[in-house]
Amino acid sequence: MPYAHIPGTRLHYRERGSGPTALMVHGFPLDSTMWIDQMDRLADVRRCIAVDLRGFGLSDPIGDESLDMQSHARDLVELVDHLGADAVDVIALSMGGYVAMAMARLRPELIRSLALVDTRAEADSEDGRVSRDAMAAAVLADGRRALAATLETVLLPPAAALNVRARIRTMIEACRYETIVAALAGMRDRSDQREALPRIGVPTTVIVGELDVLTPPESSRVMAASVPGAALHVIPGAGHMTPMEAPDAVAAILRAHLDGVTSP
Ligand code: MLT
Repeated sequence: MPYAHIPGTRLHYRERGSGPTALMVHGFPLDSTMWIDQMDRLADVRRCIAVDLRGFGLSDPIGDESLDMQSHARDLVELVDHLGADAVDVIALSMGGYVAMAMARLRPELIRSLALVDTRAEADSEDGRVSRDAMAAAVLADGRRALAATLETVLLPPAAALNVRARIRTMIEACRYETIVAALAGMRDRSDQREALPRIGVPTTVIVGELDVLTPPESSRVMAASVPGAALHVIPGAGHMTPMEAPDAVAAILRAHLDGVTSP
């Protein structure tokens, strides 16, 4: 299993395909397996790398380190170096998108193109920040099964396929408690990225599910309107997990996006 030894931890990643490197970044409290449908579909045009962020999936457990967005972004910079890539196509969902936007500020030259999927640039509202702390307390009191049952109804619309529900449950119930708590604090304290969007200078595609209640289409419209030349795609009938809910539709959009990046 491939691991990158980076300062302070070991990051696990999945690899499929060949060509220029695409880096896929998962949401919360998920892991790299959320990208396997996209890796399968894009392996002929990209060396697809799906990372388990620090503390998540098969990456090493965390101790007292913080899981803020900047720390994850620094980890991804180290991972790009480990992979031997000059620059990568970043494809990132939700919390992964928060990390991608932090990386775009930190080391813009490492990003060849950006796909922001079911994410948003704005910081948490005051109510949202309070909910993060309530969720952290609740997961310790009631367990991951209860968290998974709650989140499933937010991440997915009622009509979502059973296998997608099952995979979401598996990921959430396997996510370490300390990772959940630390990531909630990191997301609660993340900064607003809206003013940085006009400075993103790489081809950018924004994808969102029509029924995404967590990062709604309106947030994606704001992002797409703010990044120069960005395209917006709304996936009919899908919720927050478009790459899993509508794998063919999302792969077709990503393929066109990636083709546009490498075509002369
Ligand atoms: C995610 O899907 O990564 C998170 O739910 C995003 C968030 O809670 O802000």
